[in-house]
Amino acid sequence: MFQKVGNSLDADKRLYKEDIKGSIAHVEMLFKQKIISFKIKNKIIYGLNKIEREISSKKFEFNKKYEDIHINIEKRLFQIIGEEAGYVHTARSRNDQVITDFKLWLKSATKEINNNLDIVIKSSVKLAEKNIQTIMPGFTHLKNAQAISFAHYLMAYVEIFTRDKKRFSNNLESLNENPLGVAALSGTSFNIDRNYTTKKLGFKKPTNNSIDTVSDRDFVLDFLYSISVCSMHISRIAEELIIWNSDGFNLINLSDKVVTGSSIMPQKKNPDLLEYLRGKSGSAYGNLFSMLTILKGLPLSYFKDLQDDKEIVFNSNDTLINCLKIFDEVLKNFSPNKKKMLELANNGYITATDLADYLVKNHSMSFRKAYQKTSAIVNLAEKTKKNLSELSLDQLKKVEPKLTEDVLKVFDLNNSVNSKKSFGGTCFDNIKKMIMKYKKINMIRKFTLVLILFCILISCGKKGDPEYKESAIKKNMQLPSINKA
Ligand code: ARG
Repeated sequence: MFQKVGNSLDADKRLYKEDIKGSIAHVEMLFKQKIISFKIKNKIIYGLNKIEREISSKKFEFNKKYEDIHINIEKRLFQIIGEEAGYVHTARSRNDQVITDFKLWLKSATKEINNNLDIVIKSSVKLAEKNIQTIMPGFTHLKNAQAISFAHYLMAYVEIFTRDKKRFSNNLESLNENPLGVAALSGTSFNIDRNYTTKKLGFKKPTNNSIDTVSDRDFVLDFLYSISVCSMHISRIAEELIIWNSDGFNLINLSDKVVTGSSIMPQKKNPDLLEYLRGKSGSAYGNLFSMLTILKGLPLSYFKDLQDDKEIVFNSNDTLINCLKIFDEVLKNFSPNKKKMLELANNGYITATDLADYLVKNHSMSFRKAYQKTSAIVNLAEKTKKNLSELSLDQLKKVEPKLTEDVLKVFDLNNSVNSKKSFGGTCFDNIKKMIMKYKKINMIRKFTLVLILFCILISCGKKGDPEYKESAIKKNMQLPSINKA
């Protein structure tokens, strides 16, 4: 019974690569610090590499008798190399081991999420580029407010998803602090070198306080919060697209790839995928709250309560990745119903603010005065059951005699959209500039990636060179060690 309760293997076996990487760095450090011999280090590394191959090729037999991935790997190490496996856990506890694995995993998960966000951003920009001149009503309170370009709406989501990326990246600062070496909770009496494992494992610095390190799961909360916010954004756009796809609005068309039929109504094409996306924010919030609740009132330092963190994170992570992939599919499979968008934009006296602005600029009125005059003109249109653009100059002059023919251009939706030239506004030039900006960012990213690959290739070539090897060894010896003093 207890075995079943305490077992986390099903969830944490996913950390096997990180666990092996962490253990290899750990024994290399133990050898460098003369805590274990060269022979033992090599034997352990040999065994660990073998285990990694076994797990990757699905030949490894996981044993539920052992509570987690760490114990499973260690037990197998004993089978492979014998008693010397017992040295691997010198100056280490599962408490620091598990956080090291988890942080390494979260760092790559962050990268994967951001790559998926990049794909979504790219698809949104692509769609925006095709729709700069597509006019639609911008809504407030879901009522027609002012005319906007559909591309401007899409670019709003580009900003949103770019912010999401930043939110995920912000967490990297905590994820880059190396927990390895704090052991159970108080540090260790062995002369370890935490800077060495920090470098080996690609962290930036060792954590400062051993008690805090094994108790801390703030980095988990930050990750879950970032997922929640991103899911909420996906949920908002999904809801908007569901509304626009409804028969009442009919502003967008979804291709058959992203709709499903009804089992009884043959005519139905339901936006199930969008509904799935809208709903999934629920489980993301649930997971964030589970973790917050686990941590509430939990004394320092390690408690079994913390073990659930992995299952929660994996669930949120996998769901978000799935949602981002589905959302990208939706973006590639819908098109605006341009005619309907324009038609709807022509309703609801959407150019009323343009008229008020015109009166301020051309007839030296205060904005409040212009607002009153415009209201009177809107009332007149309502009474005569006409759009603002259908009113004649004579009718307009009854409200404001100073008006001339020139006023009629403010009712043109193209002019309306294109007049919002303030920075960040919906005029066509602004949108084009923003699209260019994002395309440039994308190009720079691609270029940097190629450059990094190129540098890696060159440095691989150099590593073979004996002079380079010698200088690398020298450099290693100069590494600062916080425990040496
Ligand atoms: N499976 C455990 C977890 O994920 C590893 C840490 C175990 N530590 C302990 N003191 N029991 O939390």
